[in-house]
Amino acid sequence: MIQLKNVSKIYNKGIHALTNINLSIDKGEFLFLVGPSGAGKSTFIKLLLKEEEPTEGSIVVDHQDITKMSRRKIPYHRRNISVIFQDFRLLPNKTVYENIAFAMQVIEASSKDIRRQVPMVLGMVGLSDKAKQYPHELSGGERQRVSIARAIVNNPSILIADEPTGNLDPETAWEIMKVLKQINRRGTTVVMVTHAKDIVDTMQQRVIALEKGRIIRDEHRGAYGYED
Ligand SMILES: Nc1ncnc2c1ncn2[C@@H]1O[C@H](COP(=O)(O)OP(=O)(O)OP(=O)(O)O)[C@@H](O)[C@H]1O
Ligand SMILES: [Mg+2]
Repeated sequence: MIQLKNVSKIYNKGIHALTNINLSIDKGEFLFLVGPSGAGKSTFIKLLLKEEEPTEGSIVVDHQDITKMSRRKIPYHRRNISVIFQDFRLLPNKTVYENIAFAMQVIEASSKDIRRQVPMVLGMVGLSDKAKQYPHELSGGERQRVSIARAIVNNPSILIADEPTGNLDPETAWEIMKVLKQINRRGTTVVMVTHAKDIVDTMQQRVIALEKGRIIRDEHRGAYGYED
């Protein structure tokens, strides 16, 4: 469902962020993307989201070469591939319910669908009783669960997570991993960038390691593989 062929990204200052990446990710996979700071992990994600364009190569997502995608189709692409971040990025003046509903209003979902979907995803992340609270009234783990609920409310086929547990204590990080794994079991492809060695080593999923913009390792049931 995701295929990169000979993908390179050179930023305009001549920095080679990614070099000749060839990679295929199947529907329903759960994979970790690891590597030292500056290895190109966030660049990889930006290419998938079409926030940056590759200098060379093709990127196919759900049978569509997104490097050739017409402007008109970009909003649909961004609906299909959703993202969560280390710093949650919730809207501070909206309640938990409103934060999630907003993601549906943006794509002009009907209020009937919103009333049905928002409680459903809140239940999935275990926050049904927090709907009326504001982000500042939540713990870090709860905030991340809201951001996951928001990311999945429009049923994306791919969920990308850029260091989703980076701001959380180990126990809370594991709660987030359980939620991500549960979403993956329902069929969503999950790509997670992380520096959390223990999580990668314990979860036994596919691990792709980048170094200086190249894939140096791609293992099923892999390990983190280096010391930070
Ligand atoms: N917009 C940009 N313009 C120029 N160079 C950039 C830009 N964004 C990233 N880079 C460079 O590209 C390389 C890869 O950066 P990237 O952000 O993808 O690394 P990363 O693996 O996500 O690192 P980290 O673990 O620190 O988040 C780095 O050398 C970085 O300085
Ligand atoms: Mg990064």
